[in-house]
Amino acid sequence: MRTTIGIIGAGPAGLLLSHLLHLQGIDNVVLELRSRSYIENRIRAGVLEHDVAGLLRDSGVGARMDREGLLHHGTILRFGGRSRRIDFQDLTGKSVMVYGQHEVVRDLVARRLADGGDLRFEVSDVSIHDIQTDTPSIRFTENGETKTLHCDIIAGCDGFHGICRPSLPAGFIRDFDRIYPFGWLGILAEVSPSSEELVYARHPNGFALLSMRSPTIGRFYLQCPPDENADTWSDDRIWSELHTRLADNEGFRLTEGPIIQKGVTAMRSYVAEPMQSGRLFLLGDAAHIVPPTGAKGMNMAIGDVAVLARALERHIKHKDSQGLDTYSRTCLRRVWNVQRFSWWMTSMLHNFADANAFDEQVRLAELDYVTTSRAAATTLAENYVGLALG
Ligand code: APR
Ligand code: PHB
Repeated sequence: MRTTIGIIGAGPAGLLLSHLLHLQGIDNVVLELRSRSYIENRIRAGVLEHDVAGLLRDSGVGARMDREGLLHHGTILRFGGRSRRIDFQDLTGKSVMVYGQHEVVRDLVARRLADGGDLRFEVSDVSIHDIQTDTPSIRFTENGETKTLHCDIIAGCDGFHGICRPSLPAGFIRDFDRIYPFGWLGILAEVSPSSEELVYARHPNGFALLSMRSPTIGRFYLQCPPDENADTWSDDRIWSELHTRLADNEGFRLTEGPIIQKGVTAMRSYVAEPMQSGRLFLLGDAAHIVPPTGAKGMNMAIGDVAVLARALERHIKHKDSQGLDTYSRTCLRRVWNVQRFSWWMTSMLHNFADANAFDEQVRLAELDYVTTSRAAATTLAENYVGLALG
């Protein structure tokens, strides 16, 4: 088998890259370990930056997002019993789109299949070869048969636990890592959201987030120990803790509903440098992850896709490799900005077991400042709605 770009992984990164390349007439194949139904139902975050929503729309996969997604013009920060709004529209002229990652994945899969795309689900034993030569290849097993896909370039979109990054020689990648001493217990509930906008709450018991998926489905998170077993949280305990942490002195009322899913997410910041070696390019979670506090994971992945799709077009259609040569540097500049923002939001909003009373007061002062100074609020808003895409 032969194609121009071999893409490993059908998350948002791999699928969008495949779609954008197809629009440019560039042949590609996507290889995915899991089934279509698994990737379409995997619940992840759900906030799209302004330019990310724009890229989906401009490339023709934004129709359902525009119909069903919720456009948010601001968000609420809650602390010390107060609720303060950051007005994205006023501060930046932009908004964000609340639309689940798995919905983006569904839209992209549907479009790729409608366009005759070559997406292969449930492949196994994926390995990459000869990436330092002009003739790299990917070996994999499909329906019990071992196959080889020859290509010009390999896009490693296989997430944090994929095989692409670990295939690079030991010592080639420099890792930058921070593991946080807490996780998030996330739940989906059949309830209409008690707030029109997301609420990020800091409370002495720990962080809580009120988010949503639709006018009838709420999404909530509670800071918890990193190794927490979600089963130790009964529905009553979850609602009781959400009531406590999300309360304010301004009349907020939380509505409860049946919990339909729960799980624990670990919190980590990680960057691999560089994001390229020879004919292998890493994108999205394969190269970097962020704690979910700023809702940046998928947005950062799509930032990489925007850079690589443009660079590949120049390389393949115009024989100009400059974009590919600078791919890692271009992406990492944005990646580190997003890392800084996600780390900052995480630090400001969570309880750290080793923090003393002084640290607590500084964090509260920071929240007070960021919600009362227009200059400080603008830095939060412009990062939240998203920095320029590469
Ligand atoms: N071979 C083929 N596919 C693989 C392999 C492999 N060896 N290993 C992993 N995969 C697949 C996974 O099953 C998954 O579908 O690669 C895909 C990677 O997708 P994501 O994890 O969604 O990563 P990415 O596309 O970079 O998107 C980043 O995902 O983790 C969230 O919060 C993160 O929102 C961010 C987004
Ligand atoms: C979500 O809705 O899943 C979500 C929203 C905002 C975040 C993180 C997750 O910061």
